[in-house]
This record gives sequence, C-alpha cells and structure tokens, in this order.
Amino acid sequence: MGEAGASVVVNYRSDQSSAEQLVASLKNRGGQAFAYQADVSKPDDCAGLFDAVAEHFGGVDIVVADAGIQRDKPFTEMSLAEWQQVLEVNLTGQFVCAQAAVRCFRRQGHDPGRSKALGKVIFTSSVHQEIPWAGHANYAVAKSGLKMLMQTMAQELAPEKIRVNAIAPGAIKTDINRAAWETPAASAKLLKLIPYGRIGEPEDVAQAAVWLASDASDYVVGTTLFVDGGMMLYPKFREGG
Ligand code: BGC
Repeated sequence: MGEAGASVVVNYRSDQSSAEQLVASLKNRGGQAFAYQADVSKPDDCAGLFDAVAEHFGGVDIVVADAGIQRDKPFTEMSLAEWQQVLEVNLTGQFVCAQAAVRCFRRQGHDPGRSKALGKVIFTSSVHQEIPWAGHANYAVAKSGLKMLMQTMAQELAPEKIRVNAIAPGAIKTDINRAAWETPAASAKLLKLIPYGRIGEPEDVAQAAVWLASDASDYVVGTTLFVDGGMMLYPKFREGG
C-alpha cells in the first residue's frame, strides 16, 4: 500500500518493534506512516485507532482488516474462552473496524478526484470460509461469518459508493501457520493441498489488497478474491473421484 502511494497506519497488538520497523521502511521510501497499538477485539481500542488516523492523516479511504488468530483444538476439547477469543478477534474485530471506517467515509464525503469510490473495506477471510476444517471449528465459523458480513455490508453500502470485498488467502508463510511450513516434512505435506506447487508469500496477499483498494477494481463489489495457489480446487480429486 505504501509503495502504491497510500499513507499507512500500521496497527499492532503486541509486536511494537515489527510495526516500528515497517513504519521506518515506509518513511525511508518517502511515504507517510505511523504505528498504533490497538487490540481489535476491544471496541474502545478500535475507536482510538480511528481517532488517531483522523488526527494524523485527516481521514481514511481504505481499511484492510487483517487481524487474525488461531486457537486450535479438537471439538470436544475446545474451551468456551478459545471459541470466543477467535470470534472476537477474527469476526467481531473486523466488524468493529469496518463500522468505524464506514462512519469515517460518510463524514469525509466523496471526492471523485481522489477515488471513484467513497471508501473501500477489504476483509481478510480464508479458504476456510468455504472449506470445513477439523480441529478448527472456531476459526472456520469466524471466517464463514466474515463472508456473510462482507456480502451483507457490500449489498447495504454499495449505493453509497462504498466497496466492500474480501481476500481469502490459502496457506501463506506467516507466523499463524509456521508449524505447517517450517520443516521440509511439513511443507511437503502442505504442498499436497496446493496445486500451484508453492506456499504463498505475504506479498501475494498484499498485491491483491492493493488492487482491491484501487480504482482498477472499481466495479468489484461484494466479492471474495481467493489467493490460494488453487487450494480451493479440491486437489485430492486429481487422483480419483
Ligand atoms: C490459516 C492457515 C492455513 C491456511 C490453509 C489459513 O486461513 O490461518 O493456518 O494454513 O488457512 O489451510
């Protein structure tokens, strides 16, 4: 986003030094950026985040809601706290941020010279909005809920020229799934689920987000863009069916 010319606020919950490093690298390349600490599962934190954006940049045009966690457990061992925590961050957190964003878009008003849309919301879903995932009931439910939140918001807000879409990543090399790709054995197992033959990089998702945020995708409304190397194509069916 920074390379594409956006001023960026980097929200973090606990990893201040990574956030500050990213801000420094954006500034070194001539961009405007700052870091802000907010736990998106806490509505007051989200309100503070959007106040800070308004103060620094005068407003907000694009929100990429991408906070997500996993607390994996077999179904009967999953505690209520593990269930709730994942829903609070992965679903309610994205709802709260999106709501704050839409209120900001309305306050600011539309400047067609800036963008064809009044504002853009990009949710971060997952292939698991569609693919059931044993041992991850909380996560799969949060992501499938996010799909319907995205579609409902898109339908409701499109007449105001607010575009709401989602990116559904497959397996991307981040901390959330490190155990699934870090060792050669784990990575070989994971690759059986990815027809394209490589595990995704964060940049694969970032490029999709930049496109969804730009006027190049102005007619894309209420869509989920899968960035998954073909994980949604049921690769096991290559071997029979
Ligand atoms: C999960 C990852 C997983 C991927 C594909 C993502 O949403 O966070 O842990 O590797 O889906 O299953």
